[in-house]
Amino acid sequence: MTITLSGVSKTFGDFTAVHPLDLTIPEGSFFALLGASGCGKTTTLRMIAGLEEPTSGSILLGEEDITRLPPHERPVNTVFQNYALFPHLDVKENVAFGLRRRGVKSVSKQVAEILDLVQLGELSRRKPLQLSGGQQQRVALARALINRPRVLLLDEPLGALDLKLRRQMQLELKRIQVEVGITFVHVTHDQEEAMTMADRVAVMYGGKVEQLGPPAELYEHPRSTFVANFLGTSNLFEAEIVFREAGRREGASGAGAGNGEGTGSGRAKGSGEGTVVAGAKGTGKGKGVGEAKGIAEGKDVGEGEAEASAAAAGRASGEVSHAGQDSSSGASVGGELQVKVPGGDDLLRLPLDRCAAGETEAGGKVLIGVRPEKITLAHTDDAGSVPEGRNRLTGRITDASYLGVSLQYVVETSACPELTVYEQNIERDTRLVPGEQVVLHWRPAHTFALDAAQDVAAGEEAL
Ligand SMILES: Nc1ncnc2c1ncn2[C@@H]1O[C@H](COP(=O)(O)OP(=O)(O)O)[C@@H](O)[C@H]1O
Ligand SMILES: [Mg+2]
Repeated sequence: MTITLSGVSKTFGDFTAVHPLDLTIPEGSFFALLGASGCGKTTTLRMIAGLEEPTSGSILLGEEDITRLPPHERPVNTVFQNYALFPHLDVKENVAFGLRRRGVKSVSKQVAEILDLVQLGELSRRKPLQLSGGQQQRVALARALINRPRVLLLDEPLGALDLKLRRQMQLELKRIQVEVGITFVHVTHDQEEAMTMADRVAVMYGGKVEQLGPPAELYEHPRSTFVANFLGTSNLFEAEIVFREAGRREGASGAGAGNGEGTGSGRAKGSGEGTVVAGAKGTGKGKGVGEAKGIAEGKDVGEGEAEASAAAAGRASGEVSHAGQDSSSGASVGGELQVKVPGGDDLLRLPLDRCAAGETEAGGKVLIGVRPEKITLAHTDDAGSVPEGRNRLTGRITDASYLGVSLQYVVETSACPELTVYEQNIERDTRLVPGEQVVLHWRPAHTFALDAAQDVAAGEEAL
């Protein structure tokens, strides 16, 4: 059942724990509220559960306004971090509790089913103290699910488990959610946990939702420094806009013709790693003509595909899907930004649609962002082999750590004193050691830009 929060806020005395919040939690979704301690996650969850009354706003479950409904009248159950199991009852009776309270006489079949679901069938006669943390967690989950809630709320349910078990339970919870098909709202401060499990994540910061979307979108297209730093690691550094190329409509190599009614469509295919600036010109009078040209750079790794439609008026619009190395970051439809960093020889480029800054005019300042795993390091002796069209900076390695699965480098550049780079541990370049000069390079499409007025370090301390 879809949950809709409209203008929901909560103040305690003169402290605002949750600022007016609009949130739609789609039916059947695994929805995560993610944020550092104290940002208002639990308060939001408790308002959905009916354990806390909103100071303003309304909460709908489907079409029904449940804002003033007492907790036990809501088709909602909560699993808390501390499980709150009854120590004197065995697993079976803990799970059966909700059914017995509602006067259900024969509980065995339902209890057995739900214990199967959480894989506890064998342990139904044990007492909570005879169970591991993970097993207790499963009991708490079974106890909530047996009431067949329309919505299950989970408040840091894995917080008490050690790392390995937590990882295992994350996958388990996801499986159970898919199996029962109800809406899960999961509160966590662990970004990896939210990304692993949820199909939608609301990142909260200071009682507000900072950004909301599927995990890959939040990670690839952070719209604030907080999200960029809180979800994984980002290199952020200031740059000045030199050039803005707006709305050039060209597609990957090839030409296409299409037809339509009133609108024409063109299609173009091309391959190549790197930015695909795509679009088409067209005239559409019953039949449309699409035309596309493109820039594809680098190695033939990715594949870009441009699709464009020309409206009857002759105005062209384009849509691009970009498969290959990463499909989520997309490609530019509407031009690019070129920016200058202090001491950088070459301009850095990025698709205009990866710029979340209000400022896009030449002379303006933005924060440039790039994730550490998107960057490739080349020893300065190999600088000539860096493919054309990549963003590049030069620098000096100041630190190199061997992490097993990857190598982590810190590189001092004039743009940023500490740029972090992750390289997969496949073929180590043994020359890449502290003190060495290197070229860092990455795809323009992996570059993003944020508003320069923000705190560059927001969200870092929260890790
Ligand atoms: N009953 C309360 N009275 C006063 N302040 C509260 C109360 N409950 C929560 N808060 C405050 O509201 C803020 C948000 O709390 P909470 O929602 O529990 O955060 P989170 O779950 O994200 O860690 C915190 O600063 C907390 O101290
Ligand atoms: Mg909390």
